[in-house]
Amino acid sequence: MPLGLLMLGLSLLAAVQTSTVKNCHPGCHCEVESFGLFDSFSLTRVDCSGLGPGVSMPIPIPLDTTHLDLSANAMGPLSDTMLAGPGYTTLVSLDLSSNYITEINHNALSKLRYLDTLDLSHNQLVSLHLNCFSGLPLAEVDLSHNGFQEFDLDVFAAKVNGEPVSVDLSHNRLSSVTTTSRGKVLHIQTLNLAGNQLSSVPSLAGLPLRYLNLDSNLIAEIEEGAFAPLKDLVYLSISGLGRLQQIKSNGFKGLQSLQVLDLSNNPKLVSISPAVFSGLDSLQELNLTGSGVTALPTNMLTHLPSIKSITLGRSIHCWRTKKQAQFHRQMGPVQHDEVLNCNVEGVVL
Ligand SMILES: *[C@@H]1O[C@H](CO)[C@@H](O)[C@H](O)[C@H]1NC(C)=O
Repeated sequence: MPLGLLMLGLSLLAAVQTSTVKNCHPGCHCEVESFGLFDSFSLTRVDCSGLGPGVSMPIPIPLDTTHLDLSANAMGPLSDTMLAGPGYTTLVSLDLSSNYITEINHNALSKLRYLDTLDLSHNQLVSLHLNCFSGLPLAEVDLSHNGFQEFDLDVFAAKVNGEPVSVDLSHNRLSSVTTTSRGKVLHIQTLNLAGNQLSSVPSLAGLPLRYLNLDSNLIAEIEEGAFAPLKDLVYLSISGLGRLQQIKSNGFKGLQSLQVLDLSNNPKLVSISPAVFSGLDSLQELNLTGSGVTALPTNMLTHLPSIKSITLGRSIHCWRTKKQAQFHRQMGPVQHDEVLNCNVEGVVL
C-alpha cells in the first residue's frame, strides 16, 4: 500500500467523530462518539445528571446507549423497574452516585448484562442482597461514601465472568469485612477500605488481591501473619492510622510479591524490629514519612533484598546506589557492590 494511503487509513482509524442525538430526553445531553474506518465503532454517552426530584424512571434513553450518568437525581430506593427500559441492556457504564439510594431491589440491576463500571458512591446503602450483582460482568464498582457497617465480599461471587474486579468501599463505617465463600473464587484484585472503622486487618484469605488500601482506620496493632494469604499483593497502603503502635514480627509474612509498602503518617509507630520485614523479598519502596520511626534497625536490609528506596522522617530519603569503595563490604544481600545511601548523615542502616 502506498504510504499516503496508509497514512490516510491510520488517520481515519484514529479520528473520533462526535455528533448529537436527536431523540434525547429533555434535560439530558446525548452524544455519539464514532471511531474507526467508516465510523464502524461507536459509543453513545448520555448525561441525565441533576434532573431534579420527581423525574419518572426509567428515563428514556437512545437504544445502544453505552455510558449513562444518572447521578444526583434523588432516586431513593432502586426498584426493579427503574433501570429496565429499552437502551439499558447495552450499558457498559452507569453512574448512580448521590441519589439517596437506601436499598437495591433483588432484580434492580438484572437487565444490565454488559455492565462493566458501576458508581454507587455517595448514597445511603447499609446492605446489599447477596445476588444483586448476579449475572453482571462488573470490573469496577464504587461503593464509597455509603453507610455500610459490615460488608460480605461474597456479593461479587455472583458476577458472571472471571475478569478481575476493583472495589472501592472507602469512607463507609465498616467495622467488619468478610468473605465466606468456600470453593468459589472471588476475583477481587483491588480493594480500597480506607476511611473506615476497622480495628484489625480483616481476613481476606482466598482473594487474588494486588492492591489493598487500609488507610485511616482504627487499627492499633498488626498481628503476626495478618496478611499471610495475600501472596499476589503488589501494593499495600496502611497510612494515616492514628492508633497504630505496633507491628509484630512477621507481620508481613507471606507478602512475597509486595513491591510498595506505605506506612506513612502513623505517628504512634515509633519503632520497628527488623523481623517485621521478614518475607518481603520483592519490596522496592518503603515509605515511613511522618511516622514516629526516626532510625532504622541496623540489620533490616538482610530482610529486604530488593529494596530501592526508603523514605524516613520528614525529609530523609535513602536509595540504592553502586558502591564506589574498592573493598566489597556489603550490608546484607543487597546486590554485590550496591549500598543504601541516605541524604542525611547518621542514619543507621
Ligand atoms: C510517602 O508518603 C507521603 C505521605 O503520605 C507522601 O507525601 C510521599 O509522596 C510518599 N513518598 C514516596 C517516595 O512515595
